[in-house]
Amino acid sequence: MKQNLTSKKSPLNGQETEIQKYGTVANRPLSLSHKVRLASANGLNQLLADTMTLRDLYKKHHWQVSGAIFYQLHLLFDKHHGEQAELVDTLAERIQTLGGVAIAMAPDVAETTRIVRPPRGREDHTVQLFRLLQAHEIIIAAAREAAHAAAEEGDDGTNDLLIGDVVRLNELQVWFINEQLEGAGIADKSEEATHSAVVAHS
Ligand SMILES: [Fe+2]
Repeated sequence: MKQNLTSKKSPLNGQETEIQKYGTVANRPLSLSHKVRLASANGLNQLLADTMTLRDLYKKHHWQVSGAIFYQLHLLFDKHHGEQAELVDTLAERIQTLGGVAIAMAPDVAETTRIVRPPRGREDHTVQLFRLLQAHEIIIAAAREAAHAAAEEGDDGTNDLLIGDVVRLNELQVWFINEQLEGAGIADKSEEATHSAVVAHS
């Protein structure tokens, strides 16, 4: 039988469809208060939006990269994309576990993320690498902050996920991206230079 999705009986016909509002947490028997679960879910949703943006940034760069080390970067960007995609699912399911509502759709993610929107067009691979490092650092700083807050409130599961999954993966990926800049001779060596100067004067 042919379905008429515009009929008055369709739940999509101007009626309220949400069964839980975004930004709320439902009860869960986790021995964690509503306040703690809400705070953790909010922090995780911010990180989820930023991680989805970084995931997409990696795919954009995977497709649009060019230059002498095209193939190397093409592969590296896709590997990191896959790892960030797994992290997206881990973050989203932790939010649901806490009774929250995981942010999901691109327009909502775009409104929420703190990662700067890149242009639609192609950029040089050096700019791509710096853009990725900037995004990673935003996520690492926010993840550490949220992890400390979760630990203080007794939400050890969220703390474990933020440190063991989010911080560790992002730190590792920063190493790989930074080494690409080293290879191109354009990595930030300011701290290393400061350290050398201290050693020379001692
Ligand atoms: Fe591909």
